[in-house]
Amino acid sequence: IPVDPFDLVIFGGTGDLARRKILPGLYLRFWDGQLPETAQIVGAARSEMSDEDFRGMVRAAINEVVPARKCDADRLDAFLNLVSYVAINATGEGGWRELAARMRPDRVQAFYFSVGPSLFGDLAERLHSHKIAGPGARIVVEKPFGNDLATARALNKTLALHFDETQIYRIDHYLGKETVQNLMAVRFANMLFEPLWNAQYIDHVQITVAETVGVGGRGSYYDKSGAMRDMVQNHLMQLLCLTAMEPPSKFDPDAVRDEKLKVIRALEPVPAHDIVRGQYQPGPDGPGYREDAENPDSRTESFIAMKLHIANWRWNGTPFYLRTGKRMKARVSEIVVRFKEPPHSIFEDDTGQSANELTIRLQPNEGMDMTVTIKEPGPGGMRLVDVPLDMTFAEALGEEAADVPDAYERLIMDVIRGNQTLFMRGDEVEAAWAWTDPIIAGWTEREEKPHRYEAGSTGPEDALILLHRDGRRWKELR
Ligand code: BG6
Repeated sequence: IPVDPFDLVIFGGTGDLARRKILPGLYLRFWDGQLPETAQIVGAARSEMSDEDFRGMVRAAINEVVPARKCDADRLDAFLNLVSYVAINATGEGGWRELAARMRPDRVQAFYFSVGPSLFGDLAERLHSHKIAGPGARIVVEKPFGNDLATARALNKTLALHFDETQIYRIDHYLGKETVQNLMAVRFANMLFEPLWNAQYIDHVQITVAETVGVGGRGSYYDKSGAMRDMVQNHLMQLLCLTAMEPPSKFDPDAVRDEKLKVIRALEPVPAHDIVRGQYQPGPDGPGYREDAENPDSRTESFIAMKLHIANWRWNGTPFYLRTGKRMKARVSEIVVRFKEPPHSIFEDDTGQSANELTIRLQPNEGMDMTVTIKEPGPGGMRLVDVPLDMTFAEALGEEAADVPDAYERLIMDVIRGNQTLFMRGDEVEAAWAWTDPIIAGWTEREEKPHRYEAGSTGPEDALILLHRDGRRWKELR
């Protein structure tokens, strides 16, 4: 179903995100018939460039990112007809009149701020003073949304000068991932899980986002950020919220975001001994973190493992273990819910019996599996064995399920539809920083150095010990 006619302006239209994600994402939605023929996409950036030059850049970007079978020349030409360019000076007056002349008031208007946060205020102010953004206009902003609570608050205040919260779409692209949304479907559309989804039946939860890539190429950004700000404060926090939140009364933006906010606010402060920071070392396959970051003395972490407690009725006594890192053994994002063992075993030979484990695989190989204990087949008596009930979505649902849209495709369409459910509210972002800030401040005060770990490994040994000392272990990274 096509969305309503819209004008979308991408500030930073020639930048990396626009070329890798936003423009190819819009093209794929067009390819699928979701963009109306009258949609208008305007790239806006500093350089002087003609419409034709910009279209050439967009064509090249799409050819590079989109699979060839979806890149037929006619469709691509038709899409490029929707695209134009305006050279704009974010901090001056150049280009704004021209942009104003292109906007059509009877449309959905969306302004994507794909630029550094230092320009948010200038852009918002000029959209307002040139009367470009109408009352229903939407603005889209990317992470990093601030660097700590103070900067996030300042950004929220700046945006609030000209835009209402219902107009602001803060992207966390993890929320646009198909399987992340599935987490809500699994929890709230099945009777099977929710009654057991609490500290009485769940021993612990593991949330892992492991990457094989390093920080080469973006070291100057990453070295000021580290895994805590780059991944934990946003993506892992969102996964934690969706796993732990109470059922919202309906699938509506504020109902969902209210519940997520309660989880963040219920997080207990994390003592230093429950956090392990790591930094990857040079190895046969590539340079170490410090070379990649071009900072020989860097103390920034490229890995974090931590144990969290949520202080509420549902989760009292059930720890959540989070880990994320660069240059690890495998690219795996998953949530593992480990249930408790049955209170009493009636079988004498129950050496094979263990607890049920539900794994929600976010990427790759999206799907779920659940281990159940059954009788080992054969005449050898009542011997027990754990077997997986595996559901890979692509196998269960056919090819279409394997062809899932990229998170950006989904999220940009939600902006046009005016649905904020999968976007972070201002208070949510601030609460996440309020929880993160003291942890980071503690490292600085103690002048803490990250542990070393070998590139291509599962992280520092202390991360394994974090669970071993509780009599648990991480699910293997495969
Ligand atoms: C980004 C981080 O937000 O998410 C990157 O800045 C990280 O460091 C990326 O690599 C991971 O996203 P995905 O979709 O590849 O899991």
